[in-house]
Amino acid sequence: MILRDRLKKEVAELSDLCTLPATVTRLMEMLGDPDVCIADVVAVVSADQVLASRVLKLANSAFFRRSFPVGTVSDAATYIGLAALRNLTLTVGVMDTLRASESGDFDLSRFWRHSFATALCASRLRALVSTSDIEAYFMAGLLHDVGKVVLANLYPDVVSLALRDGVLESLPFVEAEGRHFEMGHAEVGALLARRWCFPDDLAEVIGNHHGDFFKLSSVGRVVQCADRLAGVYFEREVGPRPELDDKFFEKAGISRLEFEHAHVGELLNNLQTTAVMLGWF
Ligand SMILES: [Fe+2]
Ligand SMILES: [Fe+2]
Repeated sequence: MILRDRLKKEVAELSDLCTLPATVTRLMEMLGDPDVCIADVVAVVSADQVLASRVLKLANSAFFRRSFPVGTVSDAATYIGLAALRNLTLTVGVMDTLRASESGDFDLSRFWRHSFATALCASRLRALVSTSDIEAYFMAGLLHDVGKVVLANLYPDVVSLALRDGVLESLPFVEAEGRHFEMGHAEVGALLARRWCFPDDLAEVIGNHHGDFFKLSSVGRVVQCADRLAGVYFEREVGPRPELDDKFFEKAGISRLEFEHAHVGELLNNLQTTAVMLGWF
């Protein structure tokens, strides 16, 4: 069993994994400035060519349902909005930072497909009730399981054991990891999010995403539902396919029929095109 204190100390000492690209750190700083202007954000993103080209790819993905392509960061900012551009940049930055973390039985492509599916479901669930803050829901969905990457990076062999337990005994990962780690991926993810200076509410959603639904914030509830939906309809973690009963759909605020008919096909299409574009297949 890997004890909590040891894990905490190791997460605090992580270096590479915890270093986001300078552009992303700069953007996080700009986030805190209420007077930030679109030209400044565009200038920061455009200055990093590699990052900018990946952001443009994502901006042109099916997620944004655009009828014509955007060619520059400035176009992207105009057409998809500053909040979306900022979150895309953070997404790409986080993905790139974690890219080199594949180790043991941990499958990073599968991890990203699951994370992206959760992000798409979370933003779709939010969009059904409100047009505001959709990006925040997307980010929270995308990052909810980020602690798994940290565990896989620090303890590839122990994570491999937990993954095998999950497969052999049909256990959800969160249960299988509990046999080997005193502190699970949710709490570890929250530690990392705090180190990355992500907003407190985002760190909280990450830390509690397997917690009691009724004690969660609205973003937390949506992410917990999206995590299950992503597991059932798109890409799940190891272990059994989650069960969804009528109560679940009641909590999620949608009908099963509506979700399956109106959303699953389109979300799947988004997921596949984006996954191919970003090299997750
Ligand atoms: Fe999780
Ligand atoms: Fe998950």
